[in-house]
Amino acid sequence: MNRADLKIVIVGRNGQLAWEANQRFQGLGRIICVGRPEIDLLDINGLREEIRRIRPSIIVNAAAYTAVDQAQSEPEVATKINSEAPAAMAEEAKRLDALFITYSTDYVFDGKSATPYRESDPTAPLNVYGASKLSGEQAVEAVGGNYLIFRTSWVYGARGKNFLKTILKLVAERPELKIVNDQMGAPTWSRDLADATRKIIEQLAARAESENISISETLGDRRGIYHMTSAGSVSWYGFAAAIVEEIEKRGLSKSALAELVPIPSSEYPTPAARPHNSRLCNEKLKNAFGVMLPAWRESLASVMNELG
Ligand SMILES: NC(=O)c1ccc[n+]([C@@H]2O[C@H](COP(=O)([O-])OP(=O)(O)OC[C@H]3O[C@@H](n4cnc5c(N)ncnc54)[C@H](OP(=O)(O)O)[C@@H]3O)[C@@H](O)[C@H]2O)c1
Repeated sequence: MNRADLKIVIVGRNGQLAWEANQRFQGLGRIICVGRPEIDLLDINGLREEIRRIRPSIIVNAAAYTAVDQAQSEPEVATKINSEAPAAMAEEAKRLDALFITYSTDYVFDGKSATPYRESDPTAPLNVYGASKLSGEQAVEAVGGNYLIFRTSWVYGARGKNFLKTILKLVAERPELKIVNDQMGAPTWSRDLADATRKIIEQLAARAESENISISETLGDRRGIYHMTSAGSVSWYGFAAAIVEEIEKRGLSKSALAELVPIPSSEYPTPAARPHNSRLCNEKLKNAFGVMLPAWRESLASVMNELG
């Protein structure tokens, strides 16, 4: 296929990843953003019609129901958005011979392993959100088209609601902040996810052009699930401490900021249980596509520079 014919639909508009993908994919081909208010993922027929009308060569689903605690009381809505909608997108992609890319989560695992999870490790979600995302993975696989599912973790960035933004606000307001110290994972910058996805699309597009085949066909036996997180890992407490370090570097004295107190998860009960080990091994992604995300600590500094 000719590179100029590449038509990419990004589902999602103002979400952390959706917004970055909309910015970072510019120049890749024709980028079309599909999101609320015109398209609601709860209206699956409307979503299908829109995809049929656009006839993309790639669908990137950056939308999801991500309110982890709220999902406990809204399992039907979470499942519709995180499972039925991606399954419908995968079906439409298959009909159009398009590539389908979507994202999943570390919360498909129960976190009981002592080592970083591999794609082949057994899943056992602890909460409704994780179960709805797992159901989405399985539904997309069952469609049997050409798809990539990137499981990521602890997504944050300069925009949107996330841990970084919450800590920045609270350290300036409170004398003390208690932060969980027994959940380990990789904070992953939404922009790094968008850039890694772009690199993969570029590789596939180059091959599609040189072999004169569809971008979907270039995937071959590389279709499947991949872990895609920042390099390294840290606890939520460690992440908060690094944020405070970055604030101090920018001239604010520690005495003006909340004191951080590490606590176990048992002292911070939430409606949805979370895994203690959220670490994902990214080797499969590196071997298949030669793509690695920067270290979480490096990306945190970049986001803080952007925030000024
Ligand atoms: N956030 C995390 O910590 C995290 C961790 C692991 C995996 N992930 C996965 O990473 C991906 C990106 O997450 P994110 O952090 O970028 O999510 P986010 O910031 O919460 O954004 C969610 C996006 O989904 C859209 N959306 C939600 N319900 C919708 C509906 N009914 N109809 C249409 N659009 C709808 C939102 O639209 P509006 O802009 O209109 O609100 C928004 O664009 C998701 O697959 C998520 O499951 C996230």
